[in-house]
Amino acid sequence: MNRQEIDKLVKQMNVDTATGEVNPRVQQIVVRLLGDLFQAIEDLDISQSELWKGLEYFTNAGQANELGLLAAGLGLEHYLDLRADEADAKAGITGGTPRTIEGPLYVAGAPESVGFARMDDGSETDKIDTLFIDGTVTDTDGNIIEGAKVEIWHANSLGNYSFFDKSQSDFNLRRTILSDANGQYVAQTTMPVGYGCPPEGTTQAVLNLLGRHGNRPSHVHYFISAPGYRKLTTQFNIEGDKYLWDDFAFATRDGLVATAVDVTDETEIACRGVNKPFKHITFNVELVKELAEAPTTEVDRRRASA
Ligand SMILES: [Fe+2]
Repeated sequence: MNRQEIDKLVKQMNVDTATGEVNPRVQQIVVRLLGDLFQAIEDLDISQSELWKGLEYFTNAGQANELGLLAAGLGLEHYLDLRADEADAKAGITGGTPRTIEGPLYVAGAPESVGFARMDDGSETDKIDTLFIDGTVTDTDGNIIEGAKVEIWHANSLGNYSFFDKSQSDFNLRRTILSDANGQYVAQTTMPVGYGCPPEGTTQAVLNLLGRHGNRPSHVHYFISAPGYRKLTTQFNIEGDKYLWDDFAFATRDGLVATAVDVTDETEIACRGVNKPFKHITFNVELVKELAEAPTTEVDRRRASA
């Protein structure tokens, strides 16, 4: 079939058959995606078995709750970031900390505090370096923003996230810090370790067939929001990790690479109230003022909450 015949057939089956109320947006998207799928079946001569394997794949990936991971791994989520950057540029938005992917592991409801939070539950203090993250939240002119909601989450020393990894305590390595009167936030936590897709999982299965690895560098996720400003979804990736620029989820971006500095000075150690050398990262955040002309940066997606 040629495209004209395909489009006619899709319309006959999914548009002309409507007898109830139509959601025009859903109809538009379904018709377009079906047409594109039929066209791909024609162009690539996709067999019936291959098509059913594909549908079975999505069934398995959904049952394993890995579709979010798949969207990151195939670059769909990064592509959406690039599109959002383009829309921002068209709307005249410049400056601000770059956005990057959310990933599938955010959990709503983390404990909230002002200015400072200890994020780890102490169970890994002996196993891995303590990390202090300091930063200031400002607008693009450098004016400090007090009361910005800085939501931070990251993996433990095994590359696992609390909530999804039931061996960790509730909200371990997840906190919400409101920036203080100086626009500052400080997090005391442990050094995150990069992770790989579950080796036997559905995402890794397709990556294997593409000859790709499924590893991420060590990183820390953020949502930053404040009234009157565009919500920022971002993360920093840590310098020195072998996957820094070879991230299977394509989240590392210029402006989002952080250096963890070793702090060994006794006075500074005492000042931080810890009893061993630690790592220190500065991650300042610049928020962009809300702008009616630009598409919203709030993304409506299903997220875990505890
Ligand atoms: Fe992550």
